[in-house]
Amino acid sequence: MDLWWKDAVVYQIYPRSFADSNGDGYGDLGGIESKLDYLAELGVDVLWLSPIYRSPQDDNGYDISDYQDIDAMFGTLEDFDRLLAGVHARGMKLIMDLVVNHTSDEHPWFIESRSSRDNPKRDWYWWRDGTADGPPNNWGSIFSGSAWQLDESTGQYYLHLFSRKQPDLNWENSEVRQAVYAMMNWWLDRGVDGFRMDVINLLSKTPGLPDGRIPAGGLFGDGGPYYLNGPRLHEFLQEMDRAVFADREAELLTVGETPGVSVELARVLTDPANRELDMVFQFEHMELDHGTTKWDHQPMDLVDLKANLAKWQNGLSDVGWNSLYWNNHDQPRIVSRYGDDEVHWYESATLLATVLHMHKGTPYIYQGEELGMTNYPFSGIEDYRDVESLNHYYEAVDRQRIPPEKVLPGLRIVSRDNARTPVQWDDSPGAGFSSGAAWLPVNPNHVTINAAAQVADPDSVFHYYRRLIALRHEDPVVCEGEFELLLPTDPVVHAFTRTLGAERLLVVANFSGDVAQCPIELDGEIVIANYREPTGQSLRPWEARVYRQRID
Ligand code: GLC
Repeated sequence: MDLWWKDAVVYQIYPRSFADSNGDGYGDLGGIESKLDYLAELGVDVLWLSPIYRSPQDDNGYDISDYQDIDAMFGTLEDFDRLLAGVHARGMKLIMDLVVNHTSDEHPWFIESRSSRDNPKRDWYWWRDGTADGPPNNWGSIFSGSAWQLDESTGQYYLHLFSRKQPDLNWENSEVRQAVYAMMNWWLDRGVDGFRMDVINLLSKTPGLPDGRIPAGGLFGDGGPYYLNGPRLHEFLQEMDRAVFADREAELLTVGETPGVSVELARVLTDPANRELDMVFQFEHMELDHGTTKWDHQPMDLVDLKANLAKWQNGLSDVGWNSLYWNNHDQPRIVSRYGDDEVHWYESATLLATVLHMHKGTPYIYQGEELGMTNYPFSGIEDYRDVESLNHYYEAVDRQRIPPEKVLPGLRIVSRDNARTPVQWDDSPGAGFSSGAAWLPVNPNHVTINAAAQVADPDSVFHYYRRLIALRHEDPVVCEGEFELLLPTDPVVHAFTRTLGAERLLVVANFSGDVAQCPIELDGEIVIANYREPTGQSLRPWEARVYRQRID
């Protein structure tokens, strides 16, 4: 089996915030096309586009009303074909976001399904009668409130694990599955190179949809145990493989977004012998600064982070494969989160990059990460656009009567809108993103943090990422070397090795704003480092070094 993606680096584009070619304030396909040379210079192998299909944009395109057309805000199918040709001409690949746990409530399938109780597509979604208490069960939606919405016209409720405008498809129904596979084949026939599969481990729900446990002080039950990694997940993925991927010669990539996945399950999902997925996105390393909920932000403890990353490295070392990421369109910016976006901005952005890119797996870079883009200085609720953030705020303030000043600080640090401000292309007033008013304001720090300045500066975060990507392409130790964690209990210094044959890479990183003594003897040839003159046992604030050593 061809595992071409083992030394590939993927770059995620969130199209509405990437680059706007027509001045309407939203990024579009023409904007992406205009930046392909930039992406080729960075050296990435694969582009993943967040959804560009026709959509009412309730969840910025993760609510699809036509899987086989492009939303007018992004362009046309013709624009898409041109973009794809441009990507391929530069030796890169392009994967699409596949959102098939749910559709939009404006998708023709749902419109038909809701039209009457005996419509042939009624069973394509989860319709249930209510109970004496109201909804069919007690599940809460991942986007706040109940997971059920009453449809007055037929008197039944439909399930929506996300927003009310994202009804869940019923994967128990084989017609649903066949319709999805046909759509996937249509895109692959058009030339796309694979899919990032949105919340793919939510497809199979436990029959009977049992009530979940209501957490202390909570209003809704946790349906997670009944909709995450459900009983037919492997069956559905294997069926999808047979219907879509198995007979294709092309080099494709599949990556599943799998919240709540364990290492053991990830091994099964990504074991090539099982023909399910090439790799998955797990979330454990992104939850280390969560309190009882994600909105209740806590400091991250480096010892926990090291243990967690090592657990995934070791757990998938012989079977399966890791994806590696710090950022995506759902996560606040990593330099503001696990780094220091003020005093040691450059050093912490490059340290985080070094640590991630020296792991075994396929790294994913989210747009702007390669520039060290930071969180946004949000203030009032009117600054936000994200449905998850807004629902959370109104649920807390209006329903639970929590004062806004208690809700806003968490939102500011955690909101997904932090990732969604426009890419900072230059220092002009609109940051070079759009000639019009951007749908979400550009970060004021674009005057110093921007692509034009960084491409011109060989010592920038951009060029540091470029070198890390090149290193993965050139050096088999980065790609294949066996991982070993050193110093598991050191509270500030992270250290690990990657070993292949007689060669070893030693990675050391000081996760603090103070000088730290490295207890491991530092010698060998420097491969990459984020300070000049990296010598001696003292690591400067947020200093990272990679040494090459020979084992005799
Ligand atoms: C995934 C997407 C997120 C979206 C959700 C519902 O988690 O990454 O952006 O809101 O699924 O589709």
